[in-house]
Amino acid sequence: MEKLECVFCAKSFPLDIFFPFCPECGEPLLVSRTKKQRSFRTDKKLAVEIFGDFLPLERIEPGLTLGEGDTPLLELGRLASLDKMPFTLTKNETVNPTSSFKDRGSVVAVQKAVSLGIKTIGTISTGNMAGSTAAYAAKAGLKSVILVKEDTTKEKILAAGIYGPILVKVKGDYGRLFRKSFEIGRRHGIYFMNSVDPFRIEGYKVTGYEIFLQLGARSPEYVFAPVSAGGHLIGLMRAFLDLRDEGLIRKIPVFVGVQAKGCSPLVRAFSSGKTSFTRFSNPRTIAHAISNPNPPGGNIVLKMLRENKGMLIAVSDAEIIKAQKLLAEREGIFCDPASATVLAGLCQLAQKTSFKPRDRIVLVITGSGLKTIEDLDIARIDYHEAAIDGLEKMLDSVLR
Ligand SMILES: Cc1ncc(COP(=O)(O)O)c(C=O)c1O
Ligand SMILES: [Zn+2]
Repeated sequence: MEKLECVFCAKSFPLDIFFPFCPECGEPLLVSRTKKQRSFRTDKKLAVEIFGDFLPLERIEPGLTLGEGDTPLLELGRLASLDKMPFTLTKNETVNPTSSFKDRGSVVAVQKAVSLGIKTIGTISTGNMAGSTAAYAAKAGLKSVILVKEDTTKEKILAAGIYGPILVKVKGDYGRLFRKSFEIGRRHGIYFMNSVDPFRIEGYKVTGYEIFLQLGARSPEYVFAPVSAGGHLIGLMRAFLDLRDEGLIRKIPVFVGVQAKGCSPLVRAFSSGKTSFTRFSNPRTIAHAISNPNPPGGNIVLKMLRENKGMLIAVSDAEIIKAQKLLAEREGIFCDPASATVLAGLCQLAQKTSFKPRDRIVLVITGSGLKTIEDLDIARIDYHEAAIDGLEKMLDSVLR
């Protein structure tokens, strides 16, 4: 059985699936990095099998996957004409089974749950993680308990509720609910695979390995990812640390974490040189999926970024909205506002930094825009109206 470790006090602990936090520092525990011999099984089809040696699972059960991963790495050819735009690729995670990167984490955590004989899993989410966890529970024949915020929109309730979980809208502070879920989980045998669950984080590593292979067994120079609770960025960075440990790369990429200005507790702490963040009051942004004012993995993100010469930047809602439209109109990728932060962040950084012509920049597009349709202002979409008889004339005038 693997051990979990605290990156702050360096102590290791046996696995406690119901409360993976350091008893001394209170910070999330991560799976200890192993020294075992590892290789990519490129003869396999499923992403979790190809990269299985790097995951903390004794065996992979193919029946528990929904075919997540193996997402495209696409060149942003038509955006290259933007002012000072460097050579950029997107890792398009919106094409995962439930339309976000969360599936990469859910598949690993669910494999773990089944191997431990757990019958009920759960999560707390404002959107993407709710649907993802409920879908993987459905596939595995497990019960799931999905706790959402009181103000969660109908669109998001439906996107998770369709998988048949026990879905509860909970009144009260989200941070308190996060802690409470673990108490309830222990008492009722529910494995709450929340945002910084150690196995979920391990699953996010697979995105990093795929990027490495898709670039021809090379590391990109920069990786941009939106940051909320921190789990995703921690996983991505651990992937490249693994690759460095294996001697496959010499340098890990510069990681650029992007937050929305209206909820940027980590950017604030990082730019003032602090090692821990303080809760962000009155979060307000269109990027709802990343508006966690009290991110549980925040201090680990700050530590890892500092140790690996990373960056954290904040972008405004206006920059986010512009980037979301640009990605759709110029590249055919419809992402949610949280994902659009990465392009907004790159545009901002490109004005201040001179990237080298040979730099390979990867933007991780984390979630589909189809789940956040209600954030699209109708005024941002051009459309016309016509009667059948007047249609041709109308088209003539707009096509000209
Ligand atoms: C679309 C999207 N992008 C990014 C994130 C941020 O991931 P994390 O909370 O692991 O930092 C989330 C989290 O819910 C998300 O839904
Ligand atoms: Zn500790």
